[in-house]
Amino acid sequence: MLLFPCLISCLLLALVPLQLQAQTTTATHNITVGSVLNSAGPNISWLSPSGEFAFGFRAVDGNASEFLLAIWFVNTADRTTAWYVNGGKPAPIGSTLQFTSFGLSLKNSAGQETWSAGANGVVYAAMLDTGNFALYNSSGKPIWQSFDNPSDTILPTQVLQLGSYLKSRLMATDYTTGRFILRVQDDGNLVFYTIPLVSDNQYSPYWASNTVGNGTKLVFNETGNIYFVLKNSTFDVTFGQLNTPSDFYQRATLDYDGVFRQYVHPKRSSTSARGGWSDSWTVVDLLPENICDNGGSNDGSGICSFNSYCKLNSNNSVDCECPPNYSFLDPNRKYKGCTPDFSPQSCKLDESDQFEFLSISNLDWKLADYEWYYSVDEDTCRQQCLNDCFCSVVVFNQGNCWKKKIPLSNGRMGDFVDRTLLLKVPKNNSTQIQIHKDNGWKKDKKVWILTGSLLLGSSVFVNVLLILVVVLGTHYYQKKNMKGISQQKQTCLSALGQSPLSFNYKELESSTNEFSEEVGHGGSGVVYKGYIHQHERETMFIAVKKMDTQVLSNTEKEYTTEVQTIGQTFHRNLVRLLGFCNEGPHRLLVFEFMNNGSLNSWLLNGTIKPSWNQRFQVALGIARGLLYLHEECSTQIIHCDMKPQNILLDDNLTPKISDFGLAKLLKTDQTRTNTGIRGTKGYVAPEWFKNVGITSKVDVYSFGVILLEIVCCRRNVDQDIEDEEQVVLAYWVNDCYRDRRLGLVLPTWDEEAARDMRRVERFVKVALWCIQEEPSLRPTMLKVTQMLDGAVDIPIPPDPSSYISSIQ
Ligand SMILES: *[C@@H]1O[C@H](CO)[C@@H](O)[C@H](O)[C@H]1NC(C)=O
Ligand SMILES: *[C@@H]1O[C@H](CO)[C@@H](O)[C@H](O)[C@H]1NC(C)=O
Ligand SMILES: *[C@@H]1O[C@H](CO)[C@@H](O)[C@H](O)[C@H]1NC(C)=O
Ligand SMILES: *[C@@H]1O[C@H](CO)[C@@H](O)[C@H](O)[C@H]1NC(C)=O
Ligand SMILES: *[C@@H]1O[C@H](CO)[C@@H](O)[C@H](O)[C@H]1NC(C)=O
Ligand SMILES: *[C@@H]1O[C@H](CO)[C@@H](O)[C@H](O)[C@H]1NC(C)=O
Ligand SMILES: *[C@@H]1O[C@H](CO)[C@@H](O)[C@H](O)[C@H]1NC(C)=O
Ligand SMILES: *[C@@H]1O[C@H](CO)[C@@H](O)[C@H](O)[C@H]1NC(C)=O
Ligand SMILES: *[C@@H]1O[C@H](CO)[C@@H](O)[C@H](O)[C@H]1NC(C)=O
Ligand SMILES: *[C@@H]1O[C@H](CO)[C@@H](O)[C@H](O)[C@H]1NC(C)=O
Ligand SMILES: *[C@@H]1O[C@H](CO)[C@@H](O)[C@H](O)[C@H]1NC(C)=O
Repeated sequence: MLLFPCLISCLLLALVPLQLQAQTTTATHNITVGSVLNSAGPNISWLSPSGEFAFGFRAVDGNASEFLLAIWFVNTADRTTAWYVNGGKPAPIGSTLQFTSFGLSLKNSAGQETWSAGANGVVYAAMLDTGNFALYNSSGKPIWQSFDNPSDTILPTQVLQLGSYLKSRLMATDYTTGRFILRVQDDGNLVFYTIPLVSDNQYSPYWASNTVGNGTKLVFNETGNIYFVLKNSTFDVTFGQLNTPSDFYQRATLDYDGVFRQYVHPKRSSTSARGGWSDSWTVVDLLPENICDNGGSNDGSGICSFNSYCKLNSNNSVDCECPPNYSFLDPNRKYKGCTPDFSPQSCKLDESDQFEFLSISNLDWKLADYEWYYSVDEDTCRQQCLNDCFCSVVVFNQGNCWKKKIPLSNGRMGDFVDRTLLLKVPKNNSTQIQIHKDNGWKKDKKVWILTGSLLLGSSVFVNVLLILVVVLGTHYYQKKNMKGISQQKQTCLSALGQSPLSFNYKELESSTNEFSEEVGHGGSGVVYKGYIHQHERETMFIAVKKMDTQVLSNTEKEYTTEVQTIGQTFHRNLVRLLGFCNEGPHRLLVFEFMNNGSLNSWLLNGTIKPSWNQRFQVALGIARGLLYLHEECSTQIIHCDMKPQNILLDDNLTPKISDFGLAKLLKTDQTRTNTGIRGTKGYVAPEWFKNVGITSKVDVYSFGVILLEIVCCRRNVDQDIEDEEQVVLAYWVNDCYRDRRLGLVLPTWDEEAARDMRRVERFVKVALWCIQEEPSLRPTMLKVTQMLDGAVDIPIPPDPSSYISSIQ
């Protein structure tokens, strides 16, 4: 009896890699308290009596300094791991496993415990021939066993009771916890879930036995059957029964691709099993049969990673593949997903003619829709996607049009997918990539509005639409007797990205409840809250600005043209103009309503203290919005009245600049005279007071003042402050900056900002550049955004002592 295990271990020594030769493995029937394994040798593992299983340290593939405490098949070709500890986290070389009367304790070379098992009263342990490692008490009863604490594999004779689970590993050679879990749930259901990598929650199931209330345990019996025992019957999970089970090694593993597979491997000692079997693991059954075909999960990426899709091979292996013109972020770690090989369609420039569709059959990304149209034709569907920079994929089927955006989830390909998908890819000859780098387009910026609209959509379809809107829009919309606002709103949705709508006065009057709820007022008019109905159920809030006609300079026709320009200005950081009314004496503008009010009230009047993170994000957003107005729209727009009251915040605290473009509607000739000063005290640039031309640098100046207010969380001029030096924020900050005591300008409660002084200083320096008296010294908004982002170095700003004259 004793000779046999010795023979095996000697054989083993000849087979294992060189690095293990100095180490010994001992076949033991009973492992006694006090035994120790050391990953650095000499004793690294304990063998089962048959020599077929080992428990101990095994080198992690490809890294000689990392070890896994595991159980493995000694005699299979790749010494397959059947069990491992600690969610597969490797133990560094020098780690030890101590066996005491308290059980097992894994310690790193510094003596810190990284894993333990068992309880007081352990008398001996054994690596059993079934592949189970157990700790026993003095009555010979197991106190702890690896079979009760499985990792990703179960072995014959192993039973999973209610409440137990298998978790897949991440990749074939990375044992850390992966993306799938198989649960024998307490409620009697056997369920497969996808799980996120960083936390313990689970997404929707991709397979379930649907035996709630009836399931009791999952059994793997010696002859190779795996079945779920129900109260009155059984539910077969796999059918891998063997006639001569003793000739085979067996295991069933929740593989890293999410499939639970049962494998057999002929034993070397058995010649009878050799016929027809290769010397490797063969899949005899699996579940689920087609893992790609499942209901999909609302969260997470599904079976395959984001932007990839699931495909079953003829040999039942699962392949996750990237669509054409996409490739894996990391080909060695496919679970990280695919990314496009091309730069995405710009949302700022019109690139709809740079893209086309690749049609792919039997492919879908289920549940990845963000928009759905019905009763449309295929051309409309395609065009809507080409015109929409968010749209990456569109599916058209029997009048339905589903738009999908990146990251795409729940991808699957196969006969069972009754869809033909259109993948948006750049045209082969595309100059798209150069366009991003080439600044040449900016030269054509100040073109007339019609040309601007033409640029917005150069396809025939969109052009016709735009010409119609611009040329006929004024007369047509005014004369047409609209039935109701709800209907107009729908028109607006289907013509997404087009011109603002013309509303009639009566409807605006009723939608604002006769202008009863005032939400703001300024030099140009009063703003009221209102609502319109979107579809049947949804109500959308709007802000209606009643322009003070006294201050308007334009004729009716000019007014409409200007409003069209404003309405074609789309940016994440700009309040969107939904429509207008130009009827008799009435001039109204309809904007989207912002729930979080203005920057002014959030920053300066609110009871909640805005965090540093929120504040600097807001500052960055405002800068991007201004950059867009100055440099990225077809006609440059100078705001002329930038102030915290004109910056609104949406539900996510995204800042949105409002009232842009109004300068041209009002009675000021901003390019020449000094008669009417636009802008608001404290935020206006000094050149307003001089007889010089006004440029976009006036907005840069105002931005600088606002930036200081955001950083310091206080008003630019605060008469209530006792210390005279601090009354004017710009002086105070400038002094503190020169004296290198910038911490003083932060609100006393703001520890977050105090820990981020590098960024605080960067922002202050940018602000000091922006408020230089000489406009040409002030940076452009492009430069401002680059400096705020930390993308370029910021020279020390000149001491702007001269601005003192103009700041108040
Ligand atoms: C292992 O030890 C226990 C308790 O000392 C003893 O009862 C048992 O027979 C031993 N088993 C073997 C195989 O030696
Ligand atoms: C290694 O195991 C053998 C046999 O069990 C034992 O005699 C020896 O003391 C062990 N070595 C160490 C360093 O634990
Ligand atoms: C091996 O593991 C060590 C410790 O985690 C790590 O520093 C090293 O980079 C790894 N080497 C390889 C080749 O992966
Ligand atoms: C050993 O464990 C069994 C089962 O847990 C228990 O019934 C028995 O009392 C224990 N024996 C001792 C001596 O603790
Ligand atoms: C579970 O058991 C109930 C009765 O106890 C039976 O009506 C039902 O069909 C069973 N469900 C399944 C999935 O076996
Ligand atoms: C294993 O389960 C199958 C199906 O339930 C049964 O036919 C077979 O006899 C079982 N084998 C053993 C050894 O219990
Ligand atoms: C389960 O078995 C019990 C007793 O054998 C029987 O009374 C009961 O009706 C069975 N339930 C089902 C759902 O077959
Ligand atoms: C299954 O087939 C794919 C290609 O068709 C191949 O790459 C893969 O190695 C095969 N897997 C097995 C387990 O044979
Ligand atoms: C897109 O894929 C096509 C065909 O595979 C290839 O010719 C083209 O170069 C790819 N384009 C890009 C931008 O990768
Ligand atoms: C680009 O051209 C290649 C061959 O010239 C072709 O195989 C590929 O399908 C084309 N891609 C697109 C998106 O048309
Ligand atoms: C690529 O350019 C050539 C010549 O300009 C043109 O004939 C061809 O149709 C273009 N192909 C695509 C996919 O745009």
